[in-house]
Amino acid sequence: MRTKVTVVGAGNVGATCAQEIARRDYADVVLVDILPNFPQGKALDMNQAGSVLGYEPRIVGTNGYDETADSEVVVITAGRPRAPGMSRDDLVATNEAIVTAVTKEAMKRSPRAVLVVVSNPLDAMCHVARAVSRFPKRRVVGMAGILDTARFSAFIAQELEVSVRDVTAMVLGGHGDQMVPVVSATTVGGIPLAELLTKTRLRKLVERTRFGGGELVSLLGTSAWYAPGAAAAQMVDAICLDQKRVLPCTAYLEGEYGIRGLYMGVPAKLGADGVEEIEKLKLTPDEKKMLRASAAAVREVVSILKRS
Ligand code: NAI
Ligand code: 2OP
Repeated sequence: MRTKVTVVGAGNVGATCAQEIARRDYADVVLVDILPNFPQGKALDMNQAGSVLGYEPRIVGTNGYDETADSEVVVITAGRPRAPGMSRDDLVATNEAIVTAVTKEAMKRSPRAVLVVVSNPLDAMCHVARAVSRFPKRRVVGMAGILDTARFSAFIAQELEVSVRDVTAMVLGGHGDQMVPVVSATTVGGIPLAELLTKTRLRKLVERTRFGGGELVSLLGTSAWYAPGAAAAQMVDAICLDQKRVLPCTAYLEGEYGIRGLYMGVPAKLGADGVEEIEKLKLTPDEKKMLRASAAAVREVVSILKRS
């Protein structure tokens, strides 16, 4: 039997993620949405794109969940995206109800799946998915850090006019404006970033990363989807192919980094069991302080969840 991956939400991020997974050719993909005909149409289009692009897994679009049974991974992208002037946190009430409904349906059919949460506000929605599913913490993980790190890496590569492939960066913390680009762990061709840029230029890149989501919302009128979809697909690869990748993921912390009882972005080993290990990264005193501030911001959003 082929691996099955479900993506709930056939909108911008969900459809991009589904096609990225399909193009890898190792899994069949089920695309679920509440809009009648919409996921069916997207699946049909993606299947036809396979003839041109050379992939051939089966992509099924549906408004129900029966087709999702026994998925190895369920990616949750259902929910409202940001509009200009909105923060990720403004979405909390609407998306809490959506993520609750989706998790209930998905976990009934795929009780052994790993849930990869994408819907915003991301850290809080991970709490919702975990509380509803009652899955072990390792099987509920959020996507944000790969995206935030990709933005930081892209800005560094542009600024230094180097290949992005030679940038190794890390962004931790909550998926909000208080996220922590970890300069002390960021290198270009092995050279610490702080040795390559002045403090002022460095500060500008850090700030642009923190507000990277908002920059795209103001350009697009909605939130980004190419990088988010690709980032979620990278997590699906790590799980389905048991790659043991160490990636920045939103994982449940129980004392790691001095934070307890909270989903936050940290470097985590991702494999067939989901979050198999949380890696310990040495932070500077300033970075530790920023991480604590980010945790406080996440706790504030989590505290307004109906389930909390
Ligand atoms: P979109 O509006 O294009 O797609 C969302 C889809 O969810 C729509 O097609 C909608 O019909 C569907 N939906 C709503 N309620 C549903 C339900 N109960 N069951 C199934 N489907 C349902 O939005 P987009 O741009 O794809 O964003 C999706 C979510 O991902 C948003 O909450 C957005 O803020 C978040 N996001 C998170 C990122 C991250 O880094 N974690 C990055 C980008 C977006
Ligand atoms: C992003 O960072 C809004 O979370 C979304 O693009």
